[in-house]
Amino acid sequence: MKNKDVVLSGIRATGSLHLGNYLGAMKFFAQLSQDGTKDCFFFIANLHTLTTKTDPEDIKRDLKEIVLDYVSIGIDPNVATIFAQSSVPETCELNWLLGCLASMGDLERMPHFKDKKDKKEAKREMVNAGLLTYPVLMAADILGPQANLVPVGEDQYPHVELTRELARRFNTIYGETFPVPDLLSGEAIRVPGLDGTEKMGKSDYNTIDLSDSSDVVRKKMAKAMTDPSRKKRSDPGNPSVCNVYALHTLISSGEELKEVLDGCKVAGIGCVDCKNIIAKNITNILMPIQQKRAELAAKGPDLPLEILHEGGKRARRTISVTVNEVKDKMGVPSY
Ligand code: TYM
Repeated sequence: MKNKDVVLSGIRATGSLHLGNYLGAMKFFAQLSQDGTKDCFFFIANLHTLTTKTDPEDIKRDLKEIVLDYVSIGIDPNVATIFAQSSVPETCELNWLLGCLASMGDLERMPHFKDKKDKKEAKREMVNAGLLTYPVLMAADILGPQANLVPVGEDQYPHVELTRELARRFNTIYGETFPVPDLLSGEAIRVPGLDGTEKMGKSDYNTIDLSDSSDVVRKKMAKAMTDPSRKKRSDPGNPSVCNVYALHTLISSGEELKEVLDGCKVAGIGCVDCKNIIAKNITNILMPIQQKRAELAAKGPDLPLEILHEGGKRARRTISVTVNEVKDKMGVPSY
């Protein structure tokens, strides 16, 4: 086990990243990597992507886009290791080894699996085995570099909990090997969808994308669902059931947030004004990211691949040490 904190997190390559990804996870990637005191690994989970997507060209394109997004939000590829999951075959070995310690019951109970299974069955599509074993691969992602800190949004907590369980189980059977990874301390973050659903999500068309211009943000916010019982401007609202207010609590602060809260409750502020304020604050977050993104794009199409190549080599060096140790301990070394 290592003395230095090791941070790891990843994002699937499934299309444009959105505010939920940023506020729930990526913002912390940047913060955690910036002081240079931790070993940081940020990857693109392109193997996990295969559980829901089959178009190879899309997957390759999204992978490169996420690399640029990572750098745009403030991750320095010379400080943190940015890599593609598929560059480290040892992670798949570890996936198998940990899978032999995971119980079917635990996997079947994962909310992510149940949700995806129901959706697939409703559409009469195949429920692939990757959906079931998804969290084991995630555990391999985390335990491979011996990460002890995993910044993720609330929806991923059950997967990290399973990882903790697998790390403990391994350590009990084979001797102390893995740190039991922690989530970031602080409140769990779940960014709600613009359509009134609980979670902003790529597949649900309810997102503000990191690439959205101020105009698009304003238009999307204008259509966003608010307290459904507030029909007229003069009706007092109930912020606790309003997704736009929930977004405010994640983005706005101080006097402005208080004015939105108090104003809504007494109809002192209308939904249109409230949405204009949040649209402005969202744009203030997105603008510097988009500017950096444009600068990176101007450097040419090779940049993401160069970053992935370097990062892939670095990640592989670290992870293969763990996987060899695990194989030795389990009695299945490479002969
Ligand atoms: P993914 O690609 O669905 O999401 C990437 C990150 O964004 C967070 N997130 C949100 N947070 C708050 N509110 C939202 N509406 C919201 N939408 C997305 C997710 O919680 C996540 O942190 N299984 C992972 C990828 C993965 C991984 C790992 C993560 C694979 N292996 C190992 C950490 C460690 C996933 O599908 O994330």
